[in-house]
Amino acid sequence: MNGTGRAAVLAGAGAWLPPQVVTNHDLSLRLDTSDAWIRQRTGIAERRVAAPGTATSDLAVEAARQALKSAGTASVDAVVLTTTTPDRLCPATAPEVAARLGLGTVPAFDVAAVCTGFLYALAVSAGLIAAGTADRVLVIAAEVYSSIIDPNDRGTAVIFGDGAGAVVLRAGSADEPGALGPVVLGSDGELGHLIQIPAGGSRQRKSGLPPAPGDEFFRMAGREVFRNAVERMTAVCREAAEAVGWEPGNVDRLAAHQANSRILQAVADRLGIEGGQVLSHIERVGNTGAASLPLLLADSAAHGRLSPGDRVLLTAFGGGLTWGAATVVWPRLHIESPIRNEV
Ligand code: COA
Repeated sequence: MNGTGRAAVLAGAGAWLPPQVVTNHDLSLRLDTSDAWIRQRTGIAERRVAAPGTATSDLAVEAARQALKSAGTASVDAVVLTTTTPDRLCPATAPEVAARLGLGTVPAFDVAAVCTGFLYALAVSAGLIAAGTADRVLVIAAEVYSSIIDPNDRGTAVIFGDGAGAVVLRAGSADEPGALGPVVLGSDGELGHLIQIPAGGSRQRKSGLPPAPGDEFFRMAGREVFRNAVERMTAVCREAAEAVGWEPGNVDRLAAHQANSRILQAVADRLGIEGGQVLSHIERVGNTGAASLPLLLADSAAHGRLSPGDRVLLTAFGGGLTWGAATVVWPRLHIESPIRNEV
């Protein structure tokens, strides 16, 4: 699996949510939707929204502080950040976050894989550890989706929320609790158009003209994304479980990207995982993109829904299209709940 035989071991985790809550009722006051529709079709009751002027790096710094505290360390050898909403198109957001955390001049870079970003970042970070490039890596996933969502698009505005999560990985051995199993990843660029922001990149250049109406916003073909998400996450979960000799139906916990509660249910059903084993807090936070998985892990562990020794299957799916899955036996960690800063 790697040149040095060193595994990446989960040494700390943390998360952060902006305090402002937007309920379904709030959305129904300005969109043609209802609390009942949103709950029934997505499982979401409320989401958090960053205050105007708050950027992805601001959320990332808060979550990273929690993760460093949980790991009991103030230094790392690298920072890998993943986001769909970087502070700027250039440069990457990670160097600024590393500097603000006082981590010195360590390598820091962004990984882009939309909602699968956390698993891609974990794979890259585990690779840095396996190669001997780093002994300890801070992995951060942070999103300010409210900065790219069309407030008038009821197909996306009701789903996405803002938030951040982070973990610290350290070098260790494959047989200790917290060691990541092989991260299985995939992509299908032929379906890239199902989730995209058409303007703002080199394809639709800024030439002094404003983008075509709406092209600066995040767009999603919901129904097709739904179908692909279920198929891909189910298949990649089987691969990741098989890689470590687990039967998917026998895992203790399924920690899946909080895309939509019906997607979670469909994936769990296909894998033979009972509802009680499926971690979910989508009702409170919505879909927070790449931040979804580390937020879910931190919140679940803080509230005792995830315990040391639990065999956890992690999976995510997102734009690209991209998908991934990994396994971990949950280690003993002290984690503070991110759902505490209610207003
Ligand atoms: N409120 C009320 N009605 C809505 C609505 C809303 N917020 N959003 C869509 N509708 C309407 C549609 O206009 C459509 O009406 P019509 O039948 O008159 O045309 C109807 O509800 C059904 O639309 P559809 O898009 O088929 O609904 P759906 O059950 O697929 O749910 C999503 C829509 C977006 C919730 C769902 O497709 C989804 O969750 N997709 C995946 C999203 C996701 O996980 N994305 C992230 C992946 S990383």
